Amino acid sequence: MRKKFFIYGFLLFLIVAAIYYYFKLGFLLLIILPILLVIGIFNSIQKKHAILRNFPVLGYFRYLFEMIAPEIQQYFIERSTDGKPFSRNQRSLVYQRAKNIDSNTPFGTQLNLNVRSYEGIKHSIFPAKVNEELPRVLVGGPDCKQPYLASLLNVSAMSFGSLSENAVRALNIGAQKGKFYQNTGEGGLTDYHLEGGGDITWQIGTGYFGCRDANGNFNPEKFKEKANLPNVKMIEIKLSQGAKPGHGGVLPAAKNTLQIAKIRGIEPHTLILSPPSHSAFSDAKGLVHFIAKLRELSNGKPIGFKLCIGNTSEFEAICHEMIAENCFPDFITVDGAEGGTGAAPLEFADGVGMPFEPALIFVNKTLSGLNIRDKIRIIGSGKIISGYSILHAIALGADMCNSARGFMFSLGCIQALRCHNNECPTGVATQNKMLMKGLVVTDKSDRVYHFHKNTLHAANELLAAAGKSSFADVDSNIFMRGDEFTSLSDSYFPDNLSNITNY
Ligand SMILES: Cc1cc2nc3c(=O)[nH]c(=O)nc-3n(C[C@H](O)[C@H](O)[C@H](O)COP(=O)(O)O)c2cc1C
Repeated sequence: MRKKFFIYGFLLFLIVAAIYYYFKLGFLLLIILPILLVIGIFNSIQKKHAILRNFPVLGYFRYLFEMIAPEIQQYFIERSTDGKPFSRNQRSLVYQRAKNIDSNTPFGTQLNLNVRSYEGIKHSIFPAKVNEELPRVLVGGPDCKQPYLASLLNVSAMSFGSLSENAVRALNIGAQKGKFYQNTGEGGLTDYHLEGGGDITWQIGTGYFGCRDANGNFNPEKFKEKANLPNVKMIEIKLSQGAKPGHGGVLPAAKNTLQIAKIRGIEPHTLILSPPSHSAFSDAKGLVHFIAKLRELSNGKPIGFKLCIGNTSEFEAICHEMIAENCFPDFITVDGAEGGTGAAPLEFADGVGMPFEPALIFVNKTLSGLNIRDKIRIIGSGKIISGYSILHAIALGADMCNSARGFMFSLGCIQALRCHNNECPTGVATQNKMLMKGLVVTDKSDRVYHFHKNTLHAANELLAAAGKSSFADVDSNIFMRGDEFTSLSDSYFPDNLSNITNY
């Protein structure tokens, strides 16, 4: 190909030169062709890119199309029910609810319902009255001195660093308006999380950002200072997250700005990998002691932990240790392996951890089997973006839900899949000041507020359609699954995941 490129390129140049000489036409081509020839010569001798070595100029089109492939896919190829991780229909639903406009759908479902994967609510012939009040759940076990009355739906952990400052601020103002909490994510509690006055769940990851000493270990004094701020309603120890369980946080160098490095106490403009495990504890007993320590330091605020289920016996061991020490977390957040992230290695995103549904059933059954379910709230996070997904999570064992990507869509995220390279075009998941300007905090905080409100209202409507008046009455029997319409509770395999019947 290289030979052809030089022969044809040179001949073309001679022809264009001749045309210009005789007819005074094609001046621009006369300038461009030598430039392309020089680029071609350079590419044909470089040794890094095989495509460009063989196709010295045409090869660039491959890179161009690769670059815009997600946009081509989304704008021209994707159908309403396609799109991953979220379909166009799912995204549109969030946009409409966030804009507080009509989110009804015309003409009937676009899904094929006579298939094994079908799942639906068994509605009642006698629906209940729709509750206009948005549901809340009290979090705080026997040792908690400052229980928190949480909304049924809240903002899942997403750090400042992963999200832009405007995104964090808009979420916080929205949370304040709608009376729900924003989880800080493992990047630490910043001024942007506090200025809007919204409730906060402060997440403590393995990097201990915001409460670490010079060596990166947990610092009780720094923790105490922040944990006792009035906005901080709950504290969450992050053990793992669904998108990269067993890996630890990833902050790409491009997003590690001077400001973020200062907040976290790290080297700016470098890739920051938080360790996969905590230095404050290394086993089940240590975790339980750490919970007790944080509870004491925070003056009895609700303390919980977040994890994606992997080795089920390890989770059981933690439960046994809680019983042995008579010390229980106030909540456990269960994240599914299908969870979102700012950045994760593909192997971890695609192939590590238990998906949301069986994980939730497993945790619920394990706690119930050990008779400790009443002391601990279960928070479910795994693609919660609609009233249906909330009801579904509750049916499988959750008391309340967190949503990360749902709230990102409400901020204007278009699923451009650029969270990891600082090029998020909507200003949601970037530290690029220019791009961030596109996200107007006042406008987007309203959308956050409306998305939360309208989604919970939809959950209330579904609850009523199922003939129930309280979310506490919801269990897996209200769902049917498959083309044989078996009960959802019969479609899972939790009992062979663990020996809970032996407890
Ligand atoms: C941009 C982004 C950043 C995230 N950062 C964190 C984090 O700091 N800590 C954490 O525990 N989970 C983090 N997560 C995971 C979410 O909190 C949530 O558990 C997961 O995405 C599943 O919820 P979803 O399906 O509603 O997105 C992040 C997710 C996203 C999309």
